[in-house]
Amino acid sequence: MKTLTIIPTYNEIEALPITVERLRAAVPDSDVLIVDDNSPDGTGDLAEEMHAADPQIHVLHRTQKNGLGGAYIAGFGWGLERDYDVFVELDADGSHQPEQLPALLAAVDEADLVIGSRWVPGGSVVNWPLHRKLISRAGSLYSRTMLGLKVRDITAGYRAFRRSTLEDIDLTSIESVGYGFQVDMTFRVARQRKTIAEVPITFVERTLGASKMSSDIVVEAMANVTRWGLRARGQTLAQKLGTR
Ligand code: GDD
Ligand code: MN
Repeated sequence: MKTLTIIPTYNEIEALPITVERLRAAVPDSDVLIVDDNSPDGTGDLAEEMHAADPQIHVLHRTQKNGLGGAYIAGFGWGLERDYDVFVELDADGSHQPEQLPALLAAVDEADLVIGSRWVPGGSVVNWPLHRKLISRAGSLYSRTMLGLKVRDITAGYRAFRRSTLEDIDLTSIESVGYGFQVDMTFRVARQRKTIAEVPITFVERTLGASKMSSDIVVEAMANVTRWGLRARGQTLAQKLGTR
């Protein structure tokens, strides 16, 4: 299985080299693609140096900070043009421990999408303030209810996709800019009746750099989930009326 681990970065100059080194040690077979949004702190230049020193590390530069969703879509596109079988999403800041990646990769043999989950038995979050835990759990609960999904950690950002899973999604139609992108992807995979597995992870809050989480990101995600949920309900109702 040829694996590409995609790491989106915006101002991660301190954390990125540590995360990539851990990843290269934990899963040496995986290629790495850093997708940098022209970070003012020089993360993109550092990524180029890492690429020059290690042929398995690649870099995609985007011109401006355009959101996590766009960065991943660009990264998926780069990988789909090449012969990768599995695509991994990994945060640069060390929250997603590369040492836990083998567990996700083992599960992707059996599932179309594997989610590294904080909110299943065995999963946890280290060093998050109560309000972040509440936002994450409430966000997952609201999305799960609105969209009729069974996944516990819907916004999770540590994931492994089979190539076919991404090929069957129209990536050009994804409008989510922020972290709601993760919910969007989960919903699309679930609606195709593909299998989604959750593997417990220990999410460790970053000690270097700053989070890019903002109220805009939460508002976008909530608004989209509400819209998708209502639309899906409308479609179900229309089908029921149509078959009567
Ligand atoms: N290229 C690019 N462009 N990268 C970005 C952008 C962007 O606009 N915004 C964030 N990132 C990168 C960060 O540099 C980091 O590597 C990763 O995306 C995650 O960003 P954080 O800001 O550290 O996210 P978090 O810790 O608050 O949120 C985590 O939890 C969310 C909710 O569960 C992440 O795991 C998210 O993926 C997850 O949705
Ligand atoms: Mn983080």
